Amino acid sequence: MEEKRHAGILAASFVKDGMTVGLGTGSTVYHVIVRLGERVKEGLRIRCVSTSEATTELAESLGLDLIPMSEVLNIDMTIDGADEVDRSCNGIKGGGGALLHEKLVADISRIVVWVVDSSKIVERLGAFPLPIEIVPFFHMQLISKLEGMGFSPRLRMSGSCPFTTDENNYIIDLETGFIEDPEGLHRKLKLMPGVIETGLFITTADIVVVGSKDGAKVLRN
Ligand code: A5P
Repeated sequence: MEEKRHAGILAASFVKDGMTVGLGTGSTVYHVIVRLGERVKEGLRIRCVSTSEATTELAESLGLDLIPMSEVLNIDMTIDGADEVDRSCNGIKGGGGALLHEKLVADISRIVVWVVDSSKIVERLGAFPLPIEIVPFFHMQLISKLEGMGFSPRLRMSGSCPFTTDENNYIIDLETGFIEDPEGLHRKLKLMPGVIETGLFITTADIVVVGSKDGAKVLRN
């Protein structure tokens, strides 16, 4: 909790007046958004693009100026969380189910900053189950194919119903084991009909802010 807060506060200090800022999703970015809310009250002028309904609700409650994705072609800086990050700044994301919008917002961002606590930094990705966003119509067939590939797929549930994303898709979580070739695995999954996006983010982050008990440090890609 303290680590996430330290990372969030440092990352929020990177945001400058006049920027269009992408806001990620999750418990670490929460601290970024809260700090940006304070800075806006102190006079900072920014426009924000949200990656999820949860983030939209929080940002609106803090008085941040949100603009729809349909009105932006470029974002100056996006700050987001991650579930695992390796030394090459590849990551697994989607633990909170917002991976598709997070990847799209990152794609048009000039600078992508990830905020994580120290437990998220790993030598090799893959201990965290890899989320993929899929077309609901094809979920049974995909589960069967992914089982055949040895990934022990699990359809993500919300109570007794499948979890649905903000785009009304489903998520399947995969047990990949340690991933030797993150980009290769991303490509292989992405080529499967019915897979919309994977939670593998390949060299997406320019800067990773890692929280510690006493502060936060910056890793660069
Ligand atoms: C949301 O879908 C995710 O990509 C989050 O960014 C990721 O799960 C990190 O979340 P926490 O900061 O809550 O760990």
